[in-house]
Amino acid sequence: MTRSDGDSWDIASSVGATAVMVALARAAETSSAAPLIRDEFAEPLVSTPELEGVRAQVASWWADGDTEAADNHAVSAEQMLNYQAVRTHFFDEFFAGAAAAGIRQHVILAAGLDSRAYRLRWPDDNVVYEIDLPLVLEYKARTLAAHGAKPATTRRAVAVDLREDWPAALREAGLDPAAPTTWLAEGLLPFLPGPAQEAMFAAIDRLSAPGSRVAVEVFGIDDEQWAQAKQRWAEAKAEREKRGEDVSFDPFDLWYDNEGRPDCAGWFGAHGWSAESVDGRDESERLGRPPGPSADDERPFLNIFVTAQKS
Ligand SMILES: C[S@@+](CC[C@H](N)C(=O)[O-])C[C@H]1O[C@@H](n2cnc3c(N)ncnc32)[C@H](O)[C@@H]1O
Repeated sequence: MTRSDGDSWDIASSVGATAVMVALARAAETSSAAPLIRDEFAEPLVSTPELEGVRAQVASWWADGDTEAADNHAVSAEQMLNYQAVRTHFFDEFFAGAAAAGIRQHVILAAGLDSRAYRLRWPDDNVVYEIDLPLVLEYKARTLAAHGAKPATTRRAVAVDLREDWPAALREAGLDPAAPTTWLAEGLLPFLPGPAQEAMFAAIDRLSAPGSRVAVEVFGIDDEQWAQAKQRWAEAKAEREKRGEDVSFDPFDLWYDNEGRPDCAGWFGAHGWSAESVDGRDESERLGRPPGPSADDERPFLNIFVTAQKS
């Protein structure tokens, strides 16, 4: 693992590049024949010259996954795209429901290239706070401004590390803990060490007035499946390396292990929230994007979407 306490990144490196990877999936979905979600900002966000290297690496990885002979692939492009579309759809609906219920402040933890502040329909007085590292948020704001895009509501960038005192930064940016808040942690948990995850849950609880809602993508892969996937990735990576490709972006090297992580639904349930879990596989079936026939195809769909409301 290449991670260390206090490590940092820009959009084109380390954990920052994982935000590019999922935005690439949203861009591909948006331009497909029958898209489940539409993120018209994903394409401009991933198309800058500085992301050329990451784009090429992800394209090569996904292309390998789709070849007939790919018994060593990490995950096929089709499965990745389908899963990303399903998760985006789920959390889009989560925000729509929260805004319709009258919640006016929303926090996207580890926002990356999430463009919901730009693309969703928000009631007039809503505020979207986006937390991520400074260079990631700066890249997004700069790129979308150059594209002529404007946020669809008040957007406040909170450039802070989620392993540090982010609640103070969020309050300083204007979050009102006396009013209900919507929280989203999508594509985040494996990139946080276990104690930072638990501290984040506790901070969400502390900052949440009754009626607040939270949504979390919980990664369902167990240690054995993870080890197998990592092994297959290493094999595929070695082949790409042999072909002389740049393999510096290695998402498998960025995850912290599962040890000591609280169960998400259980944690919120024990702290006065009513929690529900939606199986990624069931949601994918419901939306007509089920996993393919092999165990590899199923892997991203093992994730669980946990939502909870504070009473
Ligand atoms: C896979 S991306 C997900 C981005 C976005 N939520 C989405 O789904 O499109 C992971 C994001 O987590 C952010 N991240 C990871 N660890 C973080 C930390 N300690 N503090 C702030 N942001 C972090 C990264 O910068 C990156 O943007």
